[in-house]
Amino acid sequence: MTDPRLLHPTTHGTQPSTAASAMPVAPSTRPVPSSVAPMSAPSSMPSSIVVPDPSRAVVPSTARSTREIVPGGYELRELPAPLRRLFEHLDAAADGGELPLDLLRVELEQLDSGTQMLAPFWMFDAGTYRRNLIRRTATYEALLLCWLPGQRSPIHDHRGSGCAFRVIDGVVTETIYERAKGSELVCAASMRWLPPGTICASREFDIHEVANMQPQADLVTLHLYSPPLSDVNLYRSADSTPVS
Ligand SMILES: [Fe+2]
Repeated sequence: MTDPRLLHPTTHGTQPSTAASAMPVAPSTRPVPSSVAPMSAPSSMPSSIVVPDPSRAVVPSTARSTREIVPGGYELRELPAPLRRLFEHLDAAADGGELPLDLLRVELEQLDSGTQMLAPFWMFDAGTYRRNLIRRTATYEALLLCWLPGQRSPIHDHRGSGCAFRVIDGVVTETIYERAKGSELVCAASMRWLPPGTICASREFDIHEVANMQPQADLVTLHLYSPPLSDVNLYRSADSTPVS
């Protein structure tokens, strides 16, 4: 059974192939906090991107059979300086291949901690966590994931992509799963709570669930994937058989 969140153009999986699933998604906008402890004050935002454009923040469709990468998101010149520098570094390191996970982690560590530069991508969805595309190339993609209280990802791996993310606002509850020895089952192995500023990295076959378990606070996370995430395996906690 396919997780219905996979049909949502902004959730894990990102393969809206039908007319219905390609319908524009009406995001909900919420104020971007002026600062997030322990981060520093937000940086200024260039006037060229002060107006969010929800239609451009939807992850483009990807052909599952060929893992075709559909570039999308914003051009470098449209982005605030810290994000532009980040992507210039990634573009320079790409050299036609995928980027090492350690590089993604370091780039997120070195990124300016301001939150206002992320305002154009700071959009939520009442139905599920929202994946807002910032930039996608043949080598990597960057998304701002916005989670309302109680929203969570499916249990998943990254099926061929490395993933690093930084907690921007709120607290991540991450549950790590492992395959039971000699069994197809997956079991929760550990759980951790990640405050703002935390950097995490997952290899392609690491299995986890990310959630906003805060009762009254939003969660925002900045993700880098390389190569771009074109598909995932989904799991049930008592059965490691992929469900899509
Ligand atoms: Fe993940």
